[in-house]
Formats: sequence, structure tokens, C-alpha cells
Amino acid sequence: MNRWREVLCTTPMRLTLRLVVLFVAISLVAFGATWWLANNALIDATETTLQQQIDALSASDRPEEIARAVRNAAKQADAEHLILRYDGPQGAVGNYLGPLPAEDLAKVSLHDHDHDIKGDYFLMREKVAGGTLTAGQDADAFDDLGEVFLQVLTLTLLPTALLVLGGGLIFAFRSARRIAAIEDTLERLSAGELSARLPELPGTPDDLTRVGAGIDRLAAAQEASVSALRQVSADIAHDLKTPIQRLMVLLDQARDQAPEVEVLDRAAAEAHGIVATFQALLQIAQIEGGSPRARFMPVDLGPLAQTMTELYEPAATETGHSLTLSLRHPATINGERTLLGQVIANLIENALRHSPPGPVALTIDGATITVADRGPGIPASEHQAVLRRLYRLESSRSTPGSGLGLALVDVIVKLHGGTLSLQDNAPGLRAVVTFPGMTG
Ligand SMILES: Nc1ncnc2c1ncn2[C@@H]1O[C@H](COP(=O)(O)OP(=O)(O)OP(=O)(O)O)[C@@H](O)[C@H]1O
Ligand SMILES: [Mg+2]
Repeated sequence: MNRWREVLCTTPMRLTLRLVVLFVAISLVAFGATWWLANNALIDATETTLQQQIDALSASDRPEEIARAVRNAAKQADAEHLILRYDGPQGAVGNYLGPLPAEDLAKVSLHDHDHDIKGDYFLMREKVAGGTLTAGQDADAFDDLGEVFLQVLTLTLLPTALLVLGGGLIFAFRSARRIAAIEDTLERLSAGELSARLPELPGTPDDLTRVGAGIDRLAAAQEASVSALRQVSADIAHDLKTPIQRLMVLLDQARDQAPEVEVLDRAAAEAHGIVATFQALLQIAQIEGGSPRARFMPVDLGPLAQTMTELYEPAATETGHSLTLSLRHPATINGERTLLGQVIANLIENALRHSPPGPVALTIDGATITVADRGPGIPASEHQAVLRRLYRLESSRSTPGSGLGLALVDVIVKLHGGTLSLQDNAPGLRAVVTFPGMTG
């Protein structure tokens, strides 16, 4: 049903429908005008014939002679085709003696069983010596004309309109298929799949093919610049990692040599933060660059959550949070255990770091992981922004961190074909990660 609607809305179909309507309208006007002209010509011819009959019968001035002429002629005439009648001083004579219309020239329906008269006639009346002479001719020619026109109309107009409609429908279906292919590619591109390209469009190349080629070029340029950007950031992170690590070693040596210098401890802590940031950035770039899915193995979410909870329990106690774990038929999913552990770790860390002391609930329900706290939460308008790299809420500026935790969660979840959704826990944040269940 929807497919038909889609096809009916395509440009070729709309053009076809408009053309068909225009063609039918023009044809009807042309046929109407032709019929009108032909009908008038027929009326003229009939009029001339009847006039000749009347003139011939009314050649004499004497009513009796006219009556005789009419009687004779009427006897020979076939009343089915020709009616002759004279209403003279001696009464009416002729092959039709029924009622007559008042007009001098008219098309009427007559009925007279005795004379085999039945149907439409074209009548002409004229005053002649001593009375009125009426001549009439059957209207079969007019009916025939109408029938011929109707036949021509149905034999030419209808098939042509149907053929054009059919052709339009074929074009429309083809164009709908091409548009669907373009739409599909655009959707994949806007979903971030920059490697998406248009499939070979069916049919001969046209303007849509050119549009498609333009989309492909745009996508290729976008892909190239994004990958160049990724490469540059990965290179920077990689190149800076070693000197920073060396700096840390030097700082550690300096702290050993001068343990009383407090500023060295702070410098070492900052350097640790920088290394963590670089590591996270590199990890995100690695995963985005297509971390091998070949390493995926079945991971049971239950034991994994158990391990992560045990790992974070001391930290939670230290910050005054109570970390609880609920397992509801935990599923086994296809993935990389360390990365999945990182997802749970980052979400728990956020709850501990960004919410005041209170309950933090980790729930595994099938293939869905939920971490909920009762802190300030994240405003809905920021839900997309916090997934960006290095983005932190204003309120978190004073807390440690680099704004990469959720970005990492997001890429890992996407790598596993899952979805991450941030929701209002009223109060607090509820981060919900849903993975597709194992197939096969
Ligand atoms: N549970 C939460 N409650 C309130 N705000 C949160 C919560 N989790 C994340 N946020 C907000 O989202 C921002 C981004 O989180 P993200 O985990 O990406 O970075 P981070 O925690 O600041 O640093 P890190 O890179 O160490 O994780 C945080 O800075 C914080 O403002
Ligand atoms: Mg974090």
C-alpha cells in the first residue's frame, strides 16, 4: 500500500497523471467540436431533403390536389423512414395521423402502431394552400453519428490514456527504486557510515544518476577528510605518548630524590591524567578505525557484572555510595570482554564521580545493562553533547576526568551493534545500554 503511495508521489507519475488529464481534456473538447459540426451538417442535409419533399408536394395551389399527391406519395413511402401528412380543409391525410408538435422544425418521438412508426423523427412543417404540410425523416442517421463518435472515443481515447498511464507507472516504479537507493545511502551516511556508496542504479543514466554520483563524491570527500583528521589526532596522541611517559618517569625520579617537594606530586598526578587521556583517545581511535570483530567471543554479562561490582565496591564505599547489582536472566552476547567491562566501569565511575553519596544500581536484564544513580543527572538537552570527546558539563569542571568516558562507552557499544541511551532517573542519571542478543 505504502509502496503504491510512494510510486504515485514520484515526479514521473505526477507528470504522467497531469499529461493524461490534459490529453483527455483536449481530446474531449476536440471530439465535442467535431461532433457538433457533423451534427449540424446532418441537420442541414435533413432539412434540405424535407424541404424538397414539401416543395414537390405543394406544387399545386389546390388543396385537393395536394391531398391526393400526399396520399399517393405516403402510400409509396416507408413510414419507418419517411412521414408525409397534409392537414387540409378535408381533414388529415398521410402515413402518420397522430399528434404533432407545435414547432415548424423539430426532433420528436413518434408512436403509431398502425403505420409501423416508432422512434425519433426529424419533422418539418410548412403552411401550404389550404392547410399544413408535414414531412418527417427518421433520426437514425443522428443516432448512428452519436454511436460512431462514442466508438471512436472508446477505441482511441481510452487505450491511449491507459497506455500512457501504464508507461508512467513503469517509469514511476523505476524512479521510486532509484530514489529509495539514494535515500538508503543518504540515511547510512547521516548515521555516520561514511563508507556507504550508492549501488549501481538500474536503467539508463539520467539526472538521478548524476545526483547519485554527486552524493558519492561528497561522501568520498567527507570520508577522506574524516579519516585524515582521525589519522592526525591518532598520530599526535601516539607521538606525544612516549615523551609524556618519559616525563612521568623523570617526575617519579625527581619525587624520589626530593620527597619533600609537594608540587612534584601534583605534577605527577597531572602527568598521569594526561597519559590516561591519550590512552583513551587512542583507544577510541582504534575502535573507530575498526577494531577487529574477529576477536569477538561469547561473553556472559552476569559474571562480568559481578566482577566489575566487586572491583568497584571499595571505591564506592570510599566515596560513600552503595553499589548494588541485580541480575535478571543475564544474557550472553557476542563481543570483547575487556571492552564490555570498560563500558560497565566507565558508567559506574561516572555515577561515583558525578553524583553525591547515595545508591548506585547496576542491573543486567537480558542483554541490557543499566547503571542508575540519584545525583544531579544530565539535562536532556546535553544527552547528545556528553557523548562527544572531551565534552564535560560546566558543573563537572572541578571534578577530575577528561570527558572521554561516555565517548568511549558510545564507540564500544556501537562496535557491538548496541545502543546507548541516557535517561532521567528522576532524580539522577540512568544510562541504558542494550546489545543485540546472540544469534545462531
Ligand atoms: N552519572 C552522572 N551524573 C551526572 N553527570 C554525569 C554523569 N555521568 C556523566 N556526567 C556528565 O557527563 C560528562 C561527560 O562524562 P564522561 O564520562 O564522558 O567524562 P568524565 O567523567 O568527565 O571524564 P572521564 O573521561 O574520566 O570519564 C561529565 O563530565 C559529567 O558532566
Ligand atoms: Mg567518566
